[in-house]
Amino acid sequence: MQVYKEQKQIKAELESFRGEHLSIGFVPTMGALHEGHLALVKEALNQNDKVVVSIFVNPTQFNNAIDLEKYPRTLQDDVALLQTLGEDRVVVYAPTVEDIYGGHIESQQFDFDGLEQEMEGKFRPGHFNGVGTVVKRLFEIVAPHKAYFGKKDFQQLAIIKRLVHKYDIPVQIIGCKIQREPNGLAMSSRNARLTSEQKKAASFIYQTLTTAKAQFVTKSADEVTKWVEQQFSAHEFFELEYFNIADQDTLKPIQRKTRQKSYRAFIAVYADDIRLIDNIGLN
Ligand code: PAF
Repeated sequence: MQVYKEQKQIKAELESFRGEHLSIGFVPTMGALHEGHLALVKEALNQNDKVVVSIFVNPTQFNNAIDLEKYPRTLQDDVALLQTLGEDRVVVYAPTVEDIYGGHIESQQFDFDGLEQEMEGKFRPGHFNGVGTVVKRLFEIVAPHKAYFGKKDFQQLAIIKRLVHKYDIPVQIIGCKIQREPNGLAMSSRNARLTSEQKKAASFIYQTLTTAKAQFVTKSADEVTKWVEQQFSAHEFFELEYFNIADQDTLKPIQRKTRQKSYRAFIAVYADDIRLIDNIGLN
């Protein structure tokens, strides 16, 4: 499997693909790959001739220096996992910070029409400027026909769709369903940092979301939110950062339930210093 460290090299390879009229799918990642990423790559392989997987821990999207420092970096294992697909159509781009940012590790400032102000935006200031900056840069380098993102980061997916629309970037964004561990825990690179005890206990997060969904049929968003907050109030392993029921399109907190709108519940919790997020569609 080809692993390119420099954009110059991968651009040349991609140029030759384009010369042969091959379609290019793109799966941007920060590495520490797991089955959730593989599902994105498989979907991309089904829909494209070639697939580029980028592996880059993007410094500008971390608002917390410890999180950035502790973020797992496992390039060799990542490549080995991709090789288990037995596909010669996958190409890896694993650039250095220098290759992406030159000497200026800075975010561009974006206006995503308020999508960036909610939830993750509130608790991780600057995060979506960092995501927007790197994804826009990666789209410029890879120029894919289609790009694949997991719905675990539902707000990120909405923001990337807005980015592409605002900047007229000719790429189709495909949102893929959340991949879960057998106990319901949403797959995430950060799960690698959980102890086995925490991982087992983390089934509680998805269980709480599914019960909240059932409650939302007859209860108000406020009632459901209070119930969720109660569940976490004295939890042995998890500290709730937020639980929100929001309009799926605007991501604004629900005001009054109406049949015409689609709602989604979003949650962020801490297990020690490990931050986990998840979400569930409510109707
Ligand atoms: O979802 C991620 O892994 C990252 O936010 C992304 C999209 C690769 C940008 O760094």
